[in-house]
Amino acid sequence: MKQNLIGALCALAVMGGAFAQAPKKPSAKPVAKAAAAPAAEVKDAATLEFEKFRAEMEDSNPAELFEAKGQEQWNSRRGPKNVSLAESCALGQGVGKVEGAYVKMPRYFADADAVMDAERRIVWCMVEKQGFKFDDIASKPFANETFTPDITNLVTYVAGHSRNMKIAVPLNDPKVRDAYEVGKEIAAYRAGPYDFSCNTCHGADGKRIRMQNLPNLSTPKGAMSGVQGWPGYRMTGGVMLTHQWRMGDCFRQQRFPQPKYASDAVAYLLTYMIGNANGQVYKGPGIKR
Ligand code: HEC
Repeated sequence: MKQNLIGALCALAVMGGAFAQAPKKPSAKPVAKAAAAPAAEVKDAATLEFEKFRAEMEDSNPAELFEAKGQEQWNSRRGPKNVSLAESCALGQGVGKVEGAYVKMPRYFADADAVMDAERRIVWCMVEKQGFKFDDIASKPFANETFTPDITNLVTYVAGHSRNMKIAVPLNDPKVRDAYEVGKEIAAYRAGPYDFSCNTCHGADGKRIRMQNLPNLSTPKGAMSGVQGWPGYRMTGGVMLTHQWRMGDCFRQQRFPQPKYASDAVAYLLTYMIGNANGQVYKGPGIKR
């Protein structure tokens, strides 16, 4: 277990340089100062306004455009091997089956001998089944204002087929349980220039930074708010982003090196966080501010 954790964290450190395209904001003052704040859950005006806006947007959720694109890509023969994911990729529910697959990941996949979250699994299929190069996918894994990677569309499509289903990460599987435990350790691991861990910002109720509430990922309710709405259309920038992106960006907030895309470390953290949300209803790809 410990070795797993150390391995995962070493991988993080080693990969730091490879993801240099990540925006590096000048780290002026420690943001976490503001993180010790009102205990009660008082919703500020901006939160209420955003919730109203989101409710209005729900009917014409921009995520659906990405879902449609992902569906087309899922069903098309693509890549050097010219096969479709629909005829080759198993997400735990049988080859090509997407119904309910998203809410049951991360899970252990014997063919890859790894615990994988949805995005990591789809990347694995694109590499192993369709013949795409991992490094090509990993060189530009997330959307920006002018570009949305195929993997983002595919994840959104798959997530859309778990709409209104309960989160059910198979924590009884010993491999998944191990991943959960390592994820828990990673969330608590303090390091970096400010000695932050995920839990510095997300380990207690009622924390916030500026206008943003910081969910307590160790509780079912807090974990669910870290799961709900991802993948999500982010109004800041107008881009569709995945859970993998969210994890990477929070490593940045923590002043850690960016984790390697689709790595063990991210899969384990997602196992911990999504596992803590087990039993709650996932509403599908959403909107984030
Ligand atoms: C310095 C404080 C800080 C640290 C450390 C931090 N985060 Fe965050 N996190 C934030 C902020 C701020 C947001 C909200 C960002 C936004 O809304 O744009 C956030 C958002 C999130 C969300 C999305 C919540 C939602 O409502 O969708 C998740 C999940 C998350 N963080 C997980 C993590 C994990 C896992 C780690 C450790 C690798 C971590 N964070 C470390 C500050 C932090």
